[in-house]
Amino acid sequence: MDAILIKGGRALNGEVRISGAKNAALPMLTATLLVAGKFRFSNVPDLKDIESILQLLATIGAEVDRKGEEVTVDTRGVDNFEAPYELVRRMRASVLVLGPLLARLKRARVSLPGGCAIGARPINMHLDGFERLGAKITLEHGYVEAAAETLTGEEIFFDVPTVTGTENLMMAAVFAKGTTVLRNAAREPEVTALADMLNRMGAQISGAGTPNITVSGVDTLVPVSAEIIPDRIEAGTYMVAAALTQGNIRITGAEPDHLKPVISKLREAGAGVELAPDAITVTGSRPVSSVDIKTLPFPGFPTDMQAQFMVLMSIANGLSVITETIFENRFIHVLELQRMGADIQISGNHAMVKGAERLSGAPVMASDLRASASLVLAGLVAEGTTRISRVYHLDRGYESIEQKFGQLGANIKRISETASS
Ligand code: EPU
Repeated sequence: MDAILIKGGRALNGEVRISGAKNAALPMLTATLLVAGKFRFSNVPDLKDIESILQLLATIGAEVDRKGEEVTVDTRGVDNFEAPYELVRRMRASVLVLGPLLARLKRARVSLPGGCAIGARPINMHLDGFERLGAKITLEHGYVEAAAETLTGEEIFFDVPTVTGTENLMMAAVFAKGTTVLRNAAREPEVTALADMLNRMGAQISGAGTPNITVSGVDTLVPVSAEIIPDRIEAGTYMVAAALTQGNIRITGAEPDHLKPVISKLREAGAGVELAPDAITVTGSRPVSSVDIKTLPFPGFPTDMQAQFMVLMSIANGLSVITETIFENRFIHVLELQRMGADIQISGNHAMVKGAERLSGAPVMASDLRASASLVLAGLVAEGTTRISRVYHLDRGYESIEQKFGQLGANIKRISETASS
C-alpha cells in the first residue's frame, strides 16, 4: 500500500490545471446504459472511482475503452441487469446504474451499498422514487431489485435534496409515460451536466439547476459525445492550498460559477481571489481571518470542501465554528488534525476550531476521500514531515495529486508503505 510523504512549509506558486469532475463523470457514464450505441467522453479524470464504474459497465455487458482523457462506451451488448457486491462495496456511486437499467431493461439488481466512513448514507429516497414511478422494489440477500413493466410519470418530493437520488430518478423517468416532477431536487452542477447530456440524447428535461425538475417521457434516445465539466472540489482544494501556504496559484480549467461559496469564504478569510475567463488566481497572506462555515446543498458551501477549509481555519487568527449539516460523521479528519497540533473541539455537528500558531508534521491516516485531501493540505503547511497512510482514498478522487502539488513547488512524494522514509 502507498503512503504520501510531505515536507511542509513551502509556499506553493504556479499554475495547475483542473481535471474533469468525478461526480459528473460517474452519472454520465451510467447514463450510457439507457440506450444501445457508442458514446464518447472527453476530459474524463484518471481516478480509481472512474475505473470502478467502467469495470461495472463492462460487467453489465458494455464495451469500454480508455485512451488518456477519452473514454468510449459501447452499450450494444448490455444484457445484464445486476451490479455485484464486489463492485458496489468499492464505490457507493454504483447505485447510479439502478435508474438507467430500470428504464432500459425494466429490471435492475444492485447490491445494497451499506454505510461508509462519512455516515449511514441510505438510498431510501432513490427507492421511494422508483416506487412512485411504478417499480416494485424487493430487498433480499443484501441486494435491492427494482422491476417495472411500465414506469409512469409522477410527482416525487425529496425529503432533503439528494445528488445521486436526483440523478437516478431523472434517468429512470426518461422513458416513463407522461410527466415526472422532482421537487426539492439537488441543484449541484453535476446534476445539470447530466440533464444536459440526457437532453442532447433526446430526453425532455427542464428545470435542472433548480429545485423543481420536470421530465417528460420520450420513446427513444440516441448516443452522444460529451465533455466532463471541471471538478469544482479539486479546484477548491488547490485554492485552499494557495491561501494556506501564502502562495500564489493560477487555477485553469475551473468554473468560477460552481465555486461561489468557496470563493466568498476564501475572500472572507483574507485570501486574494481574482477571476479571469479561464483562470482563478488565489493569493494567500497572513494573518488568515477565522470564518464560520456551514455546509449545505448547492449553492451552499459544499460538504466536500469542509475538511479542507478546516485546515485553513486551524491556522487562522481566532475561533471558527464549522457546522456540518449533510453527513452525520464527517469530522473523522479532526482526530488526525489534532495529532498535527490543530486545536479543534467537536460538539455534535459543530467543530470549534481555534487557530494555532503552527501545525507540526506527524504520521496520519487517511479515512475517506476529502479527509485525505485535508491531511495533504495540513502536511503542506506543517513544520517537518507528514506521512499519510492509506492514500488509496485520495486516488479515488484526485488525479495525479503529488505531481500537481509537486509542480507547484511542494516537497511531496509517494512511497510504498513498506519502504522506509
Ligand atoms: N440521503 C438519505 N437517503 C437517500 C439519499 C440520501 O437519507 O436515499 C441523505 C444522505 O445520507 C445525506 C443527504 O441525504 O445525509 C445528502 O446526500 P446525497 O444523496 O446528496 O449524497 P450522495 O448523492 O450519496 C453525492 C456525492 C458526494 C457528496 C454528496 C453531497 C457523488 C457520486 N457523490 O453523494 O461526494 O458529498 O453528494 O454533496 O455525486 C465525494 O466526492 O467525496 C463525495 C462523498
